[in-house]
Amino acid sequence: MTIRLGSRVPNFQQDSTEGKLDFYEFLGDSWGILFSHPADFTPVCTTELGVVAGLKGEWEKRNTKVVGLSVDPPDSHMDWAKDIEETQGHALNFPLVADADRSVSTAYDMLDGDEEVTATVRSVFIIDPNKNLRLSLTYPPSTGRNFAEILRVLDSLQLADSHKVATPANWRDGEDVVILPTVSDEDADSMFPKGYEAVRPYLRVTPQPNK
Ligand code: BEZ
Repeated sequence: MTIRLGSRVPNFQQDSTEGKLDFYEFLGDSWGILFSHPADFTPVCTTELGVVAGLKGEWEKRNTKVVGLSVDPPDSHMDWAKDIEETQGHALNFPLVADADRSVSTAYDMLDGDEEVTATVRSVFIIDPNKNLRLSLTYPPSTGRNFAEILRVLDSLQLADSHKVATPANWRDGEDVVILPTVSDEDADSMFPKGYEAVRPYLRVTPQPNK
């Protein structure tokens, strides 16, 4: 069943490249990214895992832990990890879940809808420190994900959780944001001391408050 945004994600215990992984325990108080890939030893997935490993410092800056997953067994993940390190210049530095019994893939609805295909699709879930789902994305097998976009969404979510703002189209960290429509002009005056421009009564633009 699809997990709705805002609802609590299921916990799981499953084998991984770092041994048995209890998902909630691993995440602790951090934000989490759970992402699945169709299969080990495939070209696009190899590049994706290398890129995610290379972004270690960016995940850390955002207090975020990442977990990869496919339905291949642990031995296969371990063999493939050597290829990732050799070809992508980054060794895996996060657990890769071996969901051989498909229990996690089923709970998170990551399996391909085609009955003939037993693989997971390219899903991405952003999970907040309360274990609530904040974003879910599904990509086709032929399209490698843009992890800069995942970082951008994390920045937006973390900003929106601490200030009464939302982020406009194509926003990037450091750019102007919009004040939530639920904030009165009077409250906005005190909440946003840098001021704001009311382009329309519902469209009030202000400098990013935490910069
Ligand atoms: C890949 O990761 O390269 C891939 C996986 C499944 C289908 C097509 C490409």
